[in-house]
Amino acid sequence: MEQRYRLGDVLISRGEIAKKTAELAAKVAADTPQDADGNRELIVVGILTGAVFFLTDLVRELPEDMDVRVDFMSVSSYGNETKSSGVVRIFHDLKTNIEGRNVLVVEDIVDTGRTFAYLLELLQSRNPASLRTCVLLDKSARRETEVRVDYCGFNIPDAFVVGCGLDCAGMWRHLKDIRTVRTQS
Ligand code: IMP
Repeated sequence: MEQRYRLGDVLISRGEIAKKTAELAAKVAADTPQDADGNRELIVVGILTGAVFFLTDLVRELPEDMDVRVDFMSVSSYGNETKSSGVVRIFHDLKTNIEGRNVLVVEDIVDTGRTFAYLLELLQSRNPASLRTCVLLDKSARRETEVRVDYCGFNIPDAFVVGCGLDCAGMWRHLKDIRTVRTQS
């Protein structure tokens, strides 16, 4: 039988997200090392599509005197609308050579960790000077693969959520708050 989805309650409000995003950006900036010329260079890598929304807010909170570049990767973890299968395929790779550079990988959510773990291993093999991770949401109770999360917005319970870039069957990425989803058969 076809499953239908309905929006549930607000789990995290737009105000809380904005406040947390500014806090995370301040930490990321403070932890980014200066080069010999005193520049703080950072390559911010977003994972399409969900991370775009959080990433654009995050980078605009970084100090304007930082040397910030943005690039994207597109991957797919096969599965249905609410569960990833762990099989990851890269559709679009970075244009930037990250070797010897400071990299921050931004993701919307880490759930089992399978997608993120695969990506981090791939990026690490390209020998960046540093590789840090920033996620808006972490469902740490559902972790199946150990992954490094350096900056985390919110730890959330095991509920399927949408908004701020997160979708359900392609819907609701544009919502400003993070909301739960209800299913009805
Ligand atoms: P993982 O490989 O299980 O960590 O799954 C990560 C990916 O699953 C995320 O990048 C999302 O695309 C998707 N995902 C996991 N949980 C949710 C959720 O609650 N809402 C929307 N997408 C989710």
